Amino acid sequence: MGTAVDHMPVLLGEVSDFLRVRKEGVYVDCTQGSGGHSDEILSQLEGTGQLIALDRDQEALDRARERLGSHTRNLQVFHQNFKELPSLLSRLGVGAVDGCLLDLGVSSDQLGSPERGFSFQLEGPIDMRMDTRQETTAAQLLNECSVEELAEIFWRYGEEKAARRIATAIVEHRKSSKFCTTTDLAQVVEKVKGRGPHRIHPATLVFQALRIEVNQELVGLEEFLEQAISLLAPQGRLVVIAFHSLEDRIVKTVFRKAAGKCVCFRPAEFCDCPRVEQVRILTRKPVTPSPQEIESNPRARSAKLRAVEKIETTDN
Ligand SMILES: C[S@@+](CC[C@H](N)C(=O)[O-])C[C@H]1O[C@@H](n2cnc3c(N)ncnc32)[C@H](O)[C@@H]1O
Repeated sequence: MGTAVDHMPVLLGEVSDFLRVRKEGVYVDCTQGSGGHSDEILSQLEGTGQLIALDRDQEALDRARERLGSHTRNLQVFHQNFKELPSLLSRLGVGAVDGCLLDLGVSSDQLGSPERGFSFQLEGPIDMRMDTRQETTAAQLLNECSVEELAEIFWRYGEEKAARRIATAIVEHRKSSKFCTTTDLAQVVEKVKGRGPHRIHPATLVFQALRIEVNQELVGLEEFLEQAISLLAPQGRLVVIAFHSLEDRIVKTVFRKAAGKCVCFRPAEFCDCPRVEQVRILTRKPVTPSPQEIESNPRARSAKLRAVEKIETTDN
């Protein structure tokens, strides 16, 4: 494994503006990755200021350590799933935080490591685990799930229109040879869908869907965002960057609900939304990268940033 950092932090200036770091505040970077956003937050902390950073990928944390070098006086790092943040904070004796960042999804460094098996462009074992301590790999799913289960994954997490045909071809293929590499899967999908005139590779959505399933990325995200809001100090801010519509929809709905708005969209007399105002929405529309940022970092193109601020009340 190399530790050279390729990942460019997305919407760095915007994250910094929305987090509005106070030099002695307590911040959490839930997805430290290669440390780009952490670096920016740390550069603004002084004295008792703290950054608590988490990632479920040990290789990412190693890269971040290399990037941050001596920049670590105010930093504590944990190899953990951010869904465990509430118990981590209570173990650390931290009652509330001034800011929390989630930069969701996969990093360029993960995509660019063939041995991690995230990319159809690089041949490697089809693994896709962010946390390699976890048992289930993408290869296991491909070799063991039924047609129905695979089709459900590709449809639910990739909105892949050819989900069922691809799932059937996968189960047919594995009768003669098991799935071992990223190329095995890319070729089966390409055979079903053809290359097409499009710029995007035919296996893009299938790879995205499998990755989301392997890492259970959307399971519990809604509950986690609600917990993260409850962990904010008054005027504390939660900033989330999502990279696909399924993720962004969850973020948008949780933020609307926490802002006391209706999320069921039924007529007022039938609406049973809680309508309790815990936060103020800071981004009426999602913030997206500028054309210049997309040009220098094409991976940023699908990023959508949303942010909320905790309202000062006596009962939350
Ligand atoms: C887009 S990258 C973050 C990049 C980072 N902000 C930077 O500037 O380098 C997303 C990171 O989130 C991590 N990740 C995804 N889901 C996670 C989870 N549930 N818990 C902890 N880390 C997670 C991934 O391992 C990956 O390193």
